[in-house]
Amino acid sequence: MKIDIHSHFFPRIAQHEAAKLCPQRAPWLHVEGRSGQIMVGDKPFRPVDDVLWDAARRIDYLDEKGVDVQVMCATPVMFGYEQPIERALPWTQRMNDRAIEMTQAAPQRLKVLAQVPLQDRDAACREASRAKVCGHVGVQIGNHVAERDLDHDDLVAFLAHCAHENIPVLVHPWDMMRDGRMKKWMLPWLVAMPAETQLGILSLILSGAFERLPATLRLCFAHGGGGFAFLLGRADNAWRHRDIVREDCPHLPSSYVTRFHVDSAVFDPRSLQLLVDVMGADRVMLGSDAPFPLGEQDIGAGVHGHAALTAADKQRICADNARAFFAI
Ligand code: CO
Repeated sequence: MKIDIHSHFFPRIAQHEAAKLCPQRAPWLHVEGRSGQIMVGDKPFRPVDDVLWDAARRIDYLDEKGVDVQVMCATPVMFGYEQPIERALPWTQRMNDRAIEMTQAAPQRLKVLAQVPLQDRDAACREASRAKVCGHVGVQIGNHVAERDLDHDDLVAFLAHCAHENIPVLVHPWDMMRDGRMKKWMLPWLVAMPAETQLGILSLILSGAFERLPATLRLCFAHGGGGFAFLLGRADNAWRHRDIVREDCPHLPSSYVTRFHVDSAVFDPRSLQLLVDVMGADRVMLGSDAPFPLGEQDIGAGVHGHAALTAADKQRICADNARAFFAI
């Protein structure tokens, strides 16, 4: 059994549909046969193929990769957090409805996470609840909304809502920090993306937000938690030796690893070993970031082929943890 909890879709959205959200900044899909281009306004954003939007092709792809169940979520360029809620809410609902449509080809194999208009706390809570009724198995959120990180009152309130409604949350880095030094070689994806995730996790820990959030919250961070596992010793050392790090956080940062999960998308057996050592084998879930080039091409090979993980741990990471987390 192989359950992949981190993968993306992008529905066939025409330019005129996207223009209702924002003619310059909303994404849409230019399709030519089995290939396509995600466009943002008039600018090409990313070349893609039909596995991203065609449910039948996606099922073929899962067969080819030996994946039993795949949890798909929006490509983050679809979030629309920067738009006024009057336009963002109908857009979000349309994307969520299109996601459910895509699962209908094989509801047992294709699962989806909803997006929410995170710029508006109440609307985000309502849409998360609506999506749950529609069949979404959880929600995906970006790790921040402009200047608001996960420790902001609005985002903590949203997470508390998800805990109370029993809605699992996947946090995906997006809108990466850039100041002009990261414009080439996909540096925003290679440097800033893991840092965004690290910032999300540490802002929840060091703000004391986990002290206020219910322990029942099911929270998962993409890309193995970014730099978190490797840098946890640094955070603990800082907490021990600087009072300003302890100011809002009563316990060692490493004591909060029991409060969240991560996916396995780290692409190196040594990194995966460290991740399992730090998080525990019951808090790592197979996540590929498919079907993009920066995802794991042979989905699950990094876990299955690992020389040191036990068969029982591989079983947990590839299926059991996800089944419990998403109630699949
Ligand atoms: Co991703």
